[in-house]
Amino acid sequence: MPERARILQVGTLGDETDATLQAQYDVLRLWETPGGLDALAERAAGITAVVTSVRHGCRADLIARLPDLRAICSWGVGYETIDVAVAHARGIAVSNTPEVLDDCVADLAWALLLAAARQTSVADRYVKTGQWRSIGAFPLSTRVSGKRMGILGLGRIGEAIARRGSGFGMEIGYHNRRARAGVPYRYVESLVELARWSDFLVVACEGGPATRHLVSAEVLDALGPRGIVVNIARGSVIDEAAMVRALAEGRLGGAGLDVLEHEPAVPPELLGMNQVALTPHVGSATHETRREMAQLVLDNLAAFLAGRGLLTPVAA
Ligand code: 8YV
Repeated sequence: MPERARILQVGTLGDETDATLQAQYDVLRLWETPGGLDALAERAAGITAVVTSVRHGCRADLIARLPDLRAICSWGVGYETIDVAVAHARGIAVSNTPEVLDDCVADLAWALLLAAARQTSVADRYVKTGQWRSIGAFPLSTRVSGKRMGILGLGRIGEAIARRGSGFGMEIGYHNRRARAGVPYRYVESLVELARWSDFLVVACEGGPATRHLVSAEVLDALGPRGIVVNIARGSVIDEAAMVRALAEGRLGGAGLDVLEHEPAVPPELLGMNQVALTPHVGSATHETRREMAQLVLDNLAAFLAGRGLLTPVAA
């Protein structure tokens, strides 16, 4: 029998995927290794691939302990917890799981936008707690169709969100570092200007230091007292303290948030705000998408170990 490839798995990817990995490879499970990183020393030689996720990450200190490492296969489209530059500098390829989650994340952005604007979660509680009968008609909410949507980060997920906007008869604008050729949406060079133009501002850019607090107090003020911000990207992109203040003072109309800056910690002020809809980072969390994400990790790993290279490499 040919020798099985040695891989290091940083954290669990669910029972099924963990079992598949163990059936095919010689897997060292870091999260079950007493002593963790420090215990790796004598077992690190011969490990050619790391399997991880955006949650578990793969930092420079781990990469440094794996002399034979050639690939990092990560679950999740985001990779801000992986030291990609350090990996690439050593010729180590990195893969993520793009595309398979675009539709589900875009669906959730719309669910949050509708929840914040049309108050669907609040209305649900209203019915379930008997207030429909005891109080009567539910307060008016905000129209969604036909409005202006600004998208911060028109990548694959941003485009999936924009496409759905056409079905709601919306005008779509976006802000990226650069305008994109061949897209039918209005490019706005300044994020503050985009926020001023938008009824709804949807955050769909990547996380990490480059985008930290891009949605600043100034951007939120430009979105204004009738504007709603939606975030399905990373909590770090919004200056959360500024957002909480703006919501509390009525300078920002509402928010639909799947991600928070210090998740799972939730600013207590948000808990009592009907103008805020919250979900616990579940953009990609459907049976179908999670299955495809796991399969893409396995496919990347298999392709790499077979000498065909990664299927969905993160660009250098
Ligand atoms: C996951 C994600 O839901 O792919 C990503 O980058 O953020 C999501 O798919 C998230 O990592 C769960 O913690």
